[in-house]
Amino acid sequence: MLGKYHIVTYGCQMNVHESEKIAGILCRMGYEETSKIQNADIIVFNTCCIRENAENHAFGNIGALKKMKKQNPNLLIAVGGCMTQEKGKTEILQKKFPFIDIMFGALNVEELETLILRKRQEKKRVISVRDEAGEIVENLQPFRTSYPNAWVNITYGCNNFCSYCIVPYVRGRERSRKPEHILAEVRSLVAEGYKEITLLGQNVNSYGADGSTGMNFAELLDAVASIEGKFRVRFMTSHPKDFNEGVVKVMEKHPKICRLVHLPVQSGSNAVLKEMNRRYTREKYLEEIKMLRERLPEAEVTTDIIVGFPGETEEDYLQTEALVKEVDFASAFTFVYSPRQGTRAAQMENQIPDDVQKERIMRLVELVNTLTRKKSEKYVGKTVEILCEDYDEKKGLYMGRDEFGRMGYFESEKDCIGEFVNLQITKANGISLYGEVSNEKERW
Ligand code: 5AD
Ligand code: SF4
Repeated sequence: MLGKYHIVTYGCQMNVHESEKIAGILCRMGYEETSKIQNADIIVFNTCCIRENAENHAFGNIGALKKMKKQNPNLLIAVGGCMTQEKGKTEILQKKFPFIDIMFGALNVEELETLILRKRQEKKRVISVRDEAGEIVENLQPFRTSYPNAWVNITYGCNNFCSYCIVPYVRGRERSRKPEHILAEVRSLVAEGYKEITLLGQNVNSYGADGSTGMNFAELLDAVASIEGKFRVRFMTSHPKDFNEGVVKVMEKHPKICRLVHLPVQSGSNAVLKEMNRRYTREKYLEEIKMLRERLPEAEVTTDIIVGFPGETEEDYLQTEALVKEVDFASAFTFVYSPRQGTRAAQMENQIPDDVQKERIMRLVELVNTLTRKKSEKYVGKTVEILCEDYDEKKGLYMGRDEFGRMGYFESEKDCIGEFVNLQITKANGISLYGEVSNEKERW
């Protein structure tokens, strides 16, 4: 064994999966995982820059390592992820944290091994961040840590340039993986016993839009769901400007595709949507929801919402509230707008004061929580199929999600992690469900 590694991950699901790839590189080099940062010989920060608070969090945690590095000069500290891709950020990090050994970008994760080896030989700090994404690297075997769930990238990068968003600048233009690589990965995951496959992309609906794959997203989804075996398929994120009936028809055809669409609306006001460069209207969004529910009445929708975008009036905000009520989302991730350097929105003049932003987010969170709680209560008495993911030591209960992402807790004599279990729901507490294992028939 070369030593122990510890990875600190910030941000979204995509970053969590990227950390699995970093872990894969470290494992192959001979490192072993440790959950305790103080026992690590190498610490890797996989940063996120989508909002300022994610960045501040990383800055704080990296800074806290100064003492550890002093006590153990052999400790290697590596910083990667979106933040290092930001203009001028590596320089700031170097100045602020001279004890960082390695810096790499979100676009060259595959170089990490070489960078570690170089650092060991050269003894001086090694920095390698690329501006442009290269060809997709296919041979990075992730070290997966979320059995029975597995994430599979289908696209990287984004071409949409929503005016508030830094992703297109730090993750580069959209690239689609070849269908044969995606399908081979899913087949082997299913053969290994994974039970839930989530296809990942910033905008899954534009998969293959550059003509490089010979397949669009609906066709890819169909091919993935046609793989034999009992497993669930999820996909995220859908973009309302591109989400279409073709995808819903494929969902109809395959019961193994979860009846859940993550469709970020961002705002309920057409004026704000226009300034955000989202390229759809409130009316188009609502029509898509209607189409989805007509075809699949049981379907649920989750969303992302930003409040306090530059120029957002109280009237605009109230339109978001009204849309939230109308759609009745299964859940919603709510964010306060955070200006990101280099984006168009950061230069807009009519930035909203902090206190107004805070007040709006509080009202929205309250509304979303009320709706989500109401949805949970409707579960009581019903039987749902849960994929058991883990055992909660504190509660002394097994836990898993239904196809809509609701967490259900239950008692079990035997270890059922990785199994589908039918739960009769006896109690709902906030967003969590509690139930008893039942023998009622499954949906499929
Ligand atoms: N400020 C606040 N939220 C943002 N998001 C993206 N950029 C910003 C920003 N600058 C949110 C969007 C997106 C989710 C992943 O993060 O809602 O859908
Ligand atoms: Fe950002 Fe918009 Fe791309 Fe999503 S679709 S990653 S919000 S630019």
